[in-house]
Amino acid sequence: MVDFTLTDEQKAMREMAHDFATKEIRPVAWELDKDGTFPEEVIKKAWEVGLMNTHIPEEYGGPGLNYLEGCLIEEELSWGCSGVQTSLGCNGLASAPVALAASDELKKEYLGRLTEAPLLASFCLTEPDAGSDVSGMKTTAVKKGDKYVINGSKCFITNGEFANWYTVYAKTDKEAGHRGISCFVVPRDAGVIVDHHEDKMGQRASNTATVSFNDVEIPADHLVGEENKGFKIAMMTLDRTRPGVAAMATGIARAAFEFAVAYSKERVQFGVPIAMHQAIQFMIADMATEIEASRLLTWKSAVLLDQGQRNTLVSSHAKRFAADTAMKVATDAVQIYGGYGFIKEYPVEKLMRDAKIMQLYEGTSQIQRLVIARETLLPRHIEEPAAATA
Ligand code: CAA
Repeated sequence: MVDFTLTDEQKAMREMAHDFATKEIRPVAWELDKDGTFPEEVIKKAWEVGLMNTHIPEEYGGPGLNYLEGCLIEEELSWGCSGVQTSLGCNGLASAPVALAASDELKKEYLGRLTEAPLLASFCLTEPDAGSDVSGMKTTAVKKGDKYVINGSKCFITNGEFANWYTVYAKTDKEAGHRGISCFVVPRDAGVIVDHHEDKMGQRASNTATVSFNDVEIPADHLVGEENKGFKIAMMTLDRTRPGVAAMATGIARAAFEFAVAYSKERVQFGVPIAMHQAIQFMIADMATEIEASRLLTWKSAVLLDQGQRNTLVSSHAKRFAADTAMKVATDAVQIYGGYGFIKEYPVEKLMRDAKIMQLYEGTSQIQRLVIARETLLPRHIEEPAAATA
């Protein structure tokens, strides 16, 4: 039998995250959005109460929560503000390849840094000419003695300006396509240059930068997993982090839905609250169903991981559906607010802007459909690196 009941511990965790979102995130969210201010104070507080680095195993100083528990927290924090949650949650993306495939020494050093202090890390995959097509990347890593020398540039890097270290993907064999990519941990003080701060449409409280490497030398033992196996590590990472993005999208949708429901009961037109009109009721009904479906897909994609199963297909189902739902629900919330929805003084226009990125980062909705189509039409056995058990 399928049981959707959370344990008392999980309910308490979710309540704690909701409480944090209510008291620490919501009161500052719209102000941070206005100026694109990075939420440094909120990050420190979230780190102190244990709402960051939730997937880091206990042996490296983290709470070692499972994927479902991570999703419960991510939905609540994103309900508070998805821009803030992107800043808080990015360590999960950056540290996943390390947890999956790095040596014990690298795990101790770099996962340890995140749990010992409120530091940030970034995940550097995308390049100006290699977004969806990961294997088209141009950044190189050349082995020289006991070092790798990295050259290239990565764009759209979350927390790029503030990161203490970076997981960086680079070509170690330029002729081998996706089989020539390796993954590295690059400490910021190795000479990383942060050279472009993006001014974004939404999630303005999150930091997005370009990060460049000009002859950056790192010790050879900062290779994560085996040489030329980086593409698989990146794909396995995204399988593990897309449920969290789906949870965030569910949080945005829920926030927009709640504002729309409350407004529809207050706003009077034609002599009755607009919630009495069937046109609005049907919009509310569709929003409610789609949010519920987003959460169920999200939970399924996380629970598969917690059971040690491959979740590529369901992870893409969840990310695609929840992201598209967030965009639709936020757009409909603006519609329910009518002209007021278009005004910055009201809360839903921010949510509509924030929702858009959910369809773009960690794989666009089109890439999720591509994965779903491939997994459906051409199911294949995928070998995962032996070390990749986290
Ligand atoms: N797990 C393990 N291995 C996998 C895998 C998975 N989920 N998916 C594919 N592989 C393996 C395949 O088995 C194949 O292995 P072999 O070498 O043995 O043949 C290899 O990887 C290549 O697979 P494909 O042929 O499917 O690769 P592709 O080039 O066609 O690309 C893709 C597939 C799905 C389009 C992929 O490139 C992709 O996911 N692109 C989107 C990238 C993305 O999400 N970027 C987001 C960046 S992060 C971000 O946004 C965060 C931020 O900070 C803003």
